Amino acid sequence: MRSFNGRDIVSLKDIERAEYMRIFEIADELAPIARNRNNDDLLSEKTLVTAFYQPSTRTRLATEAAMHRLGGRVVGFSDAKMTRAGDFYQESIKDTVKMLEYYGDVIAMRHFQQGAPMEAAKWASVPIINCGDGWGEHPTQVLTDLYTILKEKGTLDGLNFLCVGDGRMRTMHSMAHAITQFDIEANFVFPPDMGMTDEYVKFMESRNAQFHFADHVNKVIADADVIYMEPVVQPDYTMSRQEATEDKGLTPANYKITRELLRTKAKSDSIILHSLPRMDELPPDVDETRHSRYWPEAFNGVVMRMALLALVLGAME
Ligand code: CP
Repeated sequence: MRSFNGRDIVSLKDIERAEYMRIFEIADELAPIARNRNNDDLLSEKTLVTAFYQPSTRTRLATEAAMHRLGGRVVGFSDAKMTRAGDFYQESIKDTVKMLEYYGDVIAMRHFQQGAPMEAAKWASVPIINCGDGWGEHPTQVLTDLYTILKEKGTLDGLNFLCVGDGRMRTMHSMAHAITQFDIEANFVFPPDMGMTDEYVKFMESRNAQFHFADHVNKVIADADVIYMEPVVQPDYTMSRQEATEDKGLTPANYKITRELLRTKAKSDSIILHSLPRMDELPPDVDETRHSRYWPEAFNGVVMRMALLALVLGAME
């Protein structure tokens, strides 16, 4: 297995099964720190730089919280408009990271341009963590999701996933990479105009992944051990920011998971994950059912970022 020390986490495409399992072991080791609301000193000599060119609640704050839990320092920006990348100069990724690499020891980046973190990784001498790039990937989220499933189900093998929502979403793309490393059968339910990019479908085919497409959750929910959700009422992820319009539209029944659907059709032990934020595809009355796991998923988001920071900064092997 390759060392994670100094490594960029920009895509799940090149993460192998043993590496996933090692990340999950490290997460297990560090989880008690977060669970007990303690702060450790594992990364007390290190600084995280957060470079967020697109809004975020969970990913930025979970990554920053993870650094604090491990005793590190955090600098960064959450609104590129207040930097030279977002004003008159439109400073390039290269010029920006050539500065940021001197301000800290690891850079966590979210960007509206697909591939921006990979471009940053080309120029930076410190590890880059992709915190979501346009319609590209969201590796730290999907690592969080897989870790949550492992904790809840005890395994990632032999499971059926129903992945429903916008197939262009970066989480769906990272999930497409991840399922190729486990004995997972996936049913994807995407609107016709929100299909998964061909590149990711071809990748799954090239790895003999077991996957199918369906047009309605009704048709496949009975098989699902894991229901993995994204909205279909979405902003344009290639924009730095999109304000809400009066009428955002509603989610068709094909892409909704309701309490009634769960009661009548789902396996009694199926679990629901949603990276959030949600729209009307997941009504709040599902929260109180035995299926919901998105709040433990949120806690695991901190634990997973602790594991990744400890690994790429060489504090754990
Ligand atoms: N899950 C997720 O990426 O949420 P944020 O956009 O709030 O970071």
